Amino acid sequence: MRIGVLTGGGDCPGLNAVIRAITRRSLDRGDEVVGIQHGWRGLVEGQTLPLGRGDISGILPRGGTIIRTSRTNPYKVEGGVERVLRTMESLDALVAIGGEDTLGVAARLHAEHGARVVGVPKTIDNDLNATDVTFGFDTAVSIATEAVDRLHSTAESHDRVMVCEVMGRHAGWIALHSGIAGGADVILIPELPVSVEACCSYISRRHGRGKDFSIVVVSEGWPLTFESGEAQSVESGDRDAFGHARLGGIGNALGGEIQARTGFETRVTSLGHVQRGGSPTAYDRVLATRFGLKADELVLRGAWGRMASLRGDVIVDVPLADAVATLKTVPPERYAEAEAFFG
Ligand code: F6P
Repeated sequence: MRIGVLTGGGDCPGLNAVIRAITRRSLDRGDEVVGIQHGWRGLVEGQTLPLGRGDISGILPRGGTIIRTSRTNPYKVEGGVERVLRTMESLDALVAIGGEDTLGVAARLHAEHGARVVGVPKTIDNDLNATDVTFGFDTAVSIATEAVDRLHSTAESHDRVMVCEVMGRHAGWIALHSGIAGGADVILIPELPVSVEACCSYISRRHGRGKDFSIVVVSEGWPLTFESGEAQSVESGDRDAFGHARLGGIGNALGGEIQARTGFETRVTSLGHVQRGGSPTAYDRVLATRFGLKADELVLRGAWGRMASLRGDVIVDVPLADAVATLKTVPPERYAEAEAFFG
């Protein structure tokens, strides 16, 4: 059998662990594995490279993806889908590792063209509904928590408010978890937009209790929201092939508002891609490895259109279409747990 593997969308710690698991299993039984270069772009342009044992040696702890990635959407490329299907004729199976966009393409190719594809969910944002957790999330939360811990000592030394902007386009899971773990005084997420005024009153209340510094963790996707109902997102004009605007910068806008409204000196840190880089945590390596093994099993079963998923402690498989149906956002009761420690 000839099995293609591709990684699409933003990279994510743990991708190499999935590639390793699939390749090891396949080579052990005498199958062939090809790495599709740069996600869907590799299938559009026919860029494939065979993966041998030497290619996957030592990659388990490595961040990024050895087969590269891109945000190419074949449905937005002239003749893109036809070219993908043509390249796929040389494969017996395709394993697509990605988030809602990559898996959305995989689901469509399967539904509309019967493509022999299975999926593996990934995203540091943890916003895929069809799995309890995606790998990469634990690593991103660990990095953001360490940053929040470090901001504490400098905030305290200078009697400052520190705003820490973390990733999370539609869902505030990274902000919620790193904020709770790091003891943030306010956490702002896209799903439940607390107003600037409420944020400032939490900070003022805390100062009134004799705490001269505060830490605010904000998701990049939180809109700058005012009590009046006015809300402004901070995004660049650029959009990727899936229509997503580039985010980043909300921390600066919020920091300016906090300083102007409370009079407390405020500084802003934006963690950006630091959260996606570097070595995966042990948790993410294990989850990614288990997903890789499941994907391999799905290929052997010919379970096309299905995806590996974590339910409780068990790796199961679910329809690819479920992964892209709705996003997993932070429910109000989870946010309430964090809110108990605000201000
Ligand atoms: O998809 C995950 C994510 O990390 C988002 O949280 C973030 O908005 C986006 O990717 C950044 O994408 P890029 O690397 O293309 O700037």
